[in-house]
Amino acid sequence: MPSTQTQIAGFSFDNCLMNAAGVHCMTIAELDEVKGSAAGTFVTKTATLEARAGNPEPRYQDVPLGSINSMGLPNQGLDYYLDYLLDLQEKEPNRTFFLSLVGMSPEDTHTILHKVEESGFKGLTELNLSCPNVPGKPQIAYDFETTERILTEVFAYFKKPLGIKLPPYFDIVHFDQAAAIFNQFPLRFVNCINSIGNGLYIEDETVVIRPKNGFGGIGGQYVKPTALANVHAFYQRLKPEIQIIGTGGVLTGRDAFEHILCGASMVQVGTTLHKEGVAAFERITKELEEIMVAKGYQNLDDFRGKLGYIG
Ligand code: SIN
Repeated sequence: MPSTQTQIAGFSFDNCLMNAAGVHCMTIAELDEVKGSAAGTFVTKTATLEARAGNPEPRYQDVPLGSINSMGLPNQGLDYYLDYLLDLQEKEPNRTFFLSLVGMSPEDTHTILHKVEESGFKGLTELNLSCPNVPGKPQIAYDFETTERILTEVFAYFKKPLGIKLPPYFDIVHFDQAAAIFNQFPLRFVNCINSIGNGLYIEDETVVIRPKNGFGGIGGQYVKPTALANVHAFYQRLKPEIQIIGTGGVLTGRDAFEHILCGASMVQVGTTLHKEGVAAFERITKELEEIMVAKGYQNLDDFRGKLGYIG
């Protein structure tokens, strides 16, 4: 059997598949389910300093080619996830997990990151710079000046392995500008992509989610080409110490294969996990292994980043 084992920031994972933040990770029960599945690890729901109820329901809708959501960062608050992870570290010291977080203001973000830095947490931290769903709060990573300022401030005190969750970019110049900023910092990974922000899905004559009159982040099949483009654009531009996590449109082993071909070291599953449950990890892994067998690949290094071009 080929190996789908991978590494991020020097930590090893038995499988390159995991959940995407926001899906199946709000509660300890959900996180335990992902942990007990074929997934290599999990990431928590993005934690804010205090627990949040999020936007009014209905706020997530599966649709035929994907999903639309405007959750608004509902979560149990940093302490809930951090306490769970610290406990897990004692019980399963050989596994590594991801903590996703962001503040509702830059001050909150620093308070949260200081807390994580001062805690005994030994895992990976993902700073979410890309939530499109909090009314009045733009996606941070679309503002390059603010992004650079936050990263400068954060890396002055945060010494644990840190990555960022990015929104999709759509212009080559923006890939260049964003990469030039990220390359200045000791980031360990970037995660491409969060949902494509502020789409609209309509049934008959009406939107399908309540917040923001139906505007919400789009995931699933709709977003795979954009996700692959972002994974590959950053794989080409970032220094090798900054690894890529690929997220967006992973329904099958073939989709995971394409993310890795574009440069991803880890692949996250969001909409498909929501639709299918944690059994999706075993199915997608098996499909990925079958492709690797058919192509004679033993491990992910055999094809990671080796996307072919024409001419
Ligand atoms: C949400 O809670 O609104 C989704 C999280 C995200 O897109 O970052």
